[in-house]
Amino acid sequence: MSSDSRLRLPYLSDRDLRGSWPWLAGGLAAVAATGAFAYLARAIVKKRRVDRVLKEFHDTLIVPTPKLKELCGEMLNEVQAGLRGDKSSLLMLPSMVDILPDGNEKGDVYAVDIGGTNFRVLHLRLSDERGQVAHTDLRDFTIPEEMYSCHINELFDLLAVRTVEFIRDVRRDSPSLEKPLVGFCFSFPVEQTGLASGNLIKLTKKFENAGAVGADPVLQLAEALERKGMPAHVSVLLNDAVGTFAGGRYMDEDIMLGIILGTGTNACYLEKRSNIRKGRLPDLSHSEGMLINTEWAGFVSSNLPLLEEDRTLDWHSVNVGEAVYEKMVSGLYMGEVARHILITLIERGRLLGGKVPDAMREPWSLETRFMAGMHTDNTLLLSEVSAAMYCLYGVGPWEMTYFERRQVQEVCRLVCLRSARLIAMGIAALLKQMGRDGSEGPAPRTAIVMDGGVATHYPAHKDMDPESRLL
Ligand code: BGC
Repeated sequence: MSSDSRLRLPYLSDRDLRGSWPWLAGGLAAVAATGAFAYLARAIVKKRRVDRVLKEFHDTLIVPTPKLKELCGEMLNEVQAGLRGDKSSLLMLPSMVDILPDGNEKGDVYAVDIGGTNFRVLHLRLSDERGQVAHTDLRDFTIPEEMYSCHINELFDLLAVRTVEFIRDVRRDSPSLEKPLVGFCFSFPVEQTGLASGNLIKLTKKFENAGAVGADPVLQLAEALERKGMPAHVSVLLNDAVGTFAGGRYMDEDIMLGIILGTGTNACYLEKRSNIRKGRLPDLSHSEGMLINTEWAGFVSSNLPLLEEDRTLDWHSVNVGEAVYEKMVSGLYMGEVARHILITLIERGRLLGGKVPDAMREPWSLETRFMAGMHTDNTLLLSEVSAAMYCLYGVGPWEMTYFERRQVQEVCRLVCLRSARLIAMGIAALLKQMGRDGSEGPAPRTAIVMDGGVATHYPAHKDMDPESRLL
């Protein structure tokens, strides 16, 4: 509209106006259409620019299936090297668990579980009926931020206080003077020296507590419980992947693989005695073999689809240069990878007008649960994407075109897809190791049990890419 016409409009009389309605309406419609057209044209040009950068990300993140099969072979080699005790990025730790639950276990047990974003205390009453749990009590606590870097005794003291409160509450209904039987699920790499003893090799995820590495977590928990007034019998030390496997076996005897996909990642499977050539193992002549805690989080290969953004993330993590695979697939990191990619899209592709919102520069500000929400938004105008971008980064809905929302969603989808494909690759490698990949005729029924925040709260993750065949 010219400034001239804008000036003249107020001087038109009613009569003039009456005769002019059709013209006026037509003119306004034309102006609106021109404006809309210009807006659309600008949005399309912008979209193309961002799409070009997105395509580069797609090509690096989503490796073609043949390449993924190569990676699978490499992981299998690492599995075998680790079992021999040779140098390997997979620690392949014998769990000392060689007798698996068969569903006939009974009685009251407590469990303490730490290693992710929460810690849990649990009470189970196993039923007289095979494979049934008669009663469960569970209490979940978020780990306060300062507990990730305090001395390990402080963390164990907090754990002990909550455990003692919990056991006292459970026992209020059925008092007992016996020392409680506690299973300890400790989700870090431990060199086990027995079923209820071992030495912590390293901390992972966000934990960096002094006094932990090299010590026996069972002793530390038992001492903390005693300090808090409840001596207990800590009867077993399990990694969460091992616990997930064993728990799965209680329900289904065809479970062959236990996987954790939560804050971190790990896998556990049953290995034949003859294949484990490291560590001092108990006599396994009466069992199927032993559960192996693979610690696949550490898998590394030059063929992994790593981005510059992954390297930046690594640099800001507590375990620089370690847990390479975990940082590409698990819940602590996926949102952070997506945040770094978004920054690149803004800086290189001029998404959101090329201006990175200040809040987006804040490390770890895009948690994977928000990424999952944006990824699975199926509203017509992607209003969930828009709401998340507004709440997290102050980008108003009016500041993002529909195409931009789609592009933000695509970033989330790509990060999730990379994770899903890499996890599938890891599963395929372990199925091969167990001879359950179908390469020697039809494989017997093989069940996999999965746990962890991504596995349970990000359902789209397991539905990604159903077409690809790795086996
Ligand atoms: C740890 C594993 C653990 C996994 C899942 C990884 O960072 O190294 O021991 O099982 O996280 O919690």
